[in-house]
Amino acid sequence: MTKVTTLSFGDRKAQGDKITMLTAYDYPTARLLDEAGVDAILVGDSVGMALMGYASTLAVTVEDILHHTRMVSRAATRSMVVADMPFLSYHISPEDAVRNAGRFLAEGGAHAVKLEGPMSRIGAALSHILDAGIPVMGHLGLTPQSVHQFGGFKVQGRSDEAKAQLKADAKALEAAGCFAIVLECIPAELATDISESLSIPTIGIGAGAGCDGQILVLHDILGWGKARFAHTFVDVKSAIAQAATDYVAAVKGGSYPAEEHGYQ
Ligand code: KIV
Repeated sequence: MTKVTTLSFGDRKAQGDKITMLTAYDYPTARLLDEAGVDAILVGDSVGMALMGYASTLAVTVEDILHHTRMVSRAATRSMVVADMPFLSYHISPEDAVRNAGRFLAEGGAHAVKLEGPMSRIGAALSHILDAGIPVMGHLGLTPQSVHQFGGFKVQGRSDEAKAQLKADAKALEAAGCFAIVLECIPAELATDISESLSIPTIGIGAGAGCDGQILVLHDILGWGKARFAHTFVDVKSAIAQAATDYVAAVKGGSYPAEEHGYQ
């Protein structure tokens, strides 16, 4: 078993071998993803929407991500674990950003962190985090922490100007030292163009097949996904609903518990 590292990400791109990422927020799920051969597990701030019932990722805290990163890193023996830096954890000051990023590795057991936005916003935090020896994954396009500035969860990079800006932003993140960049909800042609222009891998979500890898929120492959790019690989959502309905009927109808479920 070879552990996936930031170096393996670069090797994969060079070999044309697609990188696979999914989110996970707990031990048993992360264990399954690790065993299934998922290259990297993101403890995403999507936990706020997927598990915590928030309408956006903005309310997720450093303590929330730490709590879930600890569970995931205990399970991951092969997969790389990336902790998502939540809103305001890298915006206040570079010192604060390094302290928070460091906690995800030292206390959470993560191997890398992810920051949303271009260099013009995250440059100072990014260079301090990298100087502390912490690998950073960038994130461009529809960065959910800026949802209100975008006026909703909207596709980015449609105009020629926006396309050129995104490409320049990706180049700048590469030059600054990111080991990979997530490209979220941008036109497929633009994502392909950016991927071909970089030597570090791009990881797409709603960005077409031309990226060097793909990432999805786990719930978006299990039946909860509503976005265009979501795909139900197994309908776990319906299975849970069915199990709960059957349980209620069995308890009320007296067929559960049966004799074999009890102790003499
Ligand atoms: O929080 C998250 O899960 C993410 C992915 C959607 C890329 O940032």
